[in-house]
Amino acid sequence: MTNRQTLNNQVIFITGAAGLIGRRFVSMILQNGGRVVASDISEKGLSELNTLFSGDDFLGVKVDVNDTVSVTEGLERARAHFGTVTGLVNSAYPRNSNYGRDFMAVEYDDFCENVNLNLASTFLVAKIFGAYFREQKQGSIVNLSSIYGVVAPKFGIYENTSMTVPVEYAAIKAAVIQLTKYMAQYLKKDGVRVNCISPGGVFDHQPEPFLIKYRDQCGLQGMLEPEHLDSALLFLLDAQSAMVTGQNIVVDDGFSL
Ligand SMILES: NC(=O)c1ccc[n+]([C@@H]2O[C@H](COP(=O)([O-])OP(=O)(O)OC[C@H]3O[C@@H](n4cnc5c(N)ncnc54)[C@H](O)[C@@H]3O)[C@@H](O)[C@H]2O)c1
Repeated sequence: MTNRQTLNNQVIFITGAAGLIGRRFVSMILQNGGRVVASDISEKGLSELNTLFSGDDFLGVKVDVNDTVSVTEGLERARAHFGTVTGLVNSAYPRNSNYGRDFMAVEYDDFCENVNLNLASTFLVAKIFGAYFREQKQGSIVNLSSIYGVVAPKFGIYENTSMTVPVEYAAIKAAVIQLTKYMAQYLKKDGVRVNCISPGGVFDHQPEPFLIKYRDQCGLQGMLEPEHLDSALLFLLDAQSAMVTGQNIVVDDGFSL
């Protein structure tokens, strides 16, 4: 997915840009002629991004998606630098240190905190950028949900590993799809589109027995590589999808079927 230059008038703000998926999105947007504001809370991550990407089309900014002032300042810095922002990709993934436990081990306070960190931040960032996009009568917001926002957990594939589908994750990701529809409906008369991508699991050196069981649920690929999400994001940011809003694109090699 290179050199199509379809994003050459666009400035895309990415949250969680230093992450597994966010970092690939930065690269894909630059390769397609867009300008990128890569935001993340991690200074180490931002410094790595600054080494990987440079030039007039790239700006790295520190932003905490759970902090209204930080998000607002991030948008202001992006506008001051590039003159405009035309798209937002919500790819930050905040969670607390107890995240990822078995359902029965999840404490009420941790459930609340993780929903607050992840779902509420998606709302916060989308609302702040949505207000700006509404003023300029243009903008595309892309949220990141997951297959586990769409289908019930397949617990069997996690047996004999320390991994599971966190209950907060399932609740948050299902809510992100509905938040997407809500915002799409709210903003559709203002030229602002809001869509969602639901990826399958992305390969990150998970244990081999898990990878085999995961692959059994899929077509020929199994776990995704981050670049498998390129074309869905490009489509949603580009004018090709001008008539598409409120949608969730599942990219999972058939895992959720
Ligand atoms: N990796 C997968 O297998 C997978 C599958 C389906 C969906 N997703 C979704 O894709 C999105 C990105 O996932 P990922 O795998 O790239 O995650 P990741 O953990 O690799 O990266 C997340 C990034 O968010 C940043 N971050 C955390 N808290 C933040 C905060 N408060 N403010 C700003 N940035 C913050 C982190 O520093 C990190 O760079 C998430 O919404 C995730 O649920 C991931």
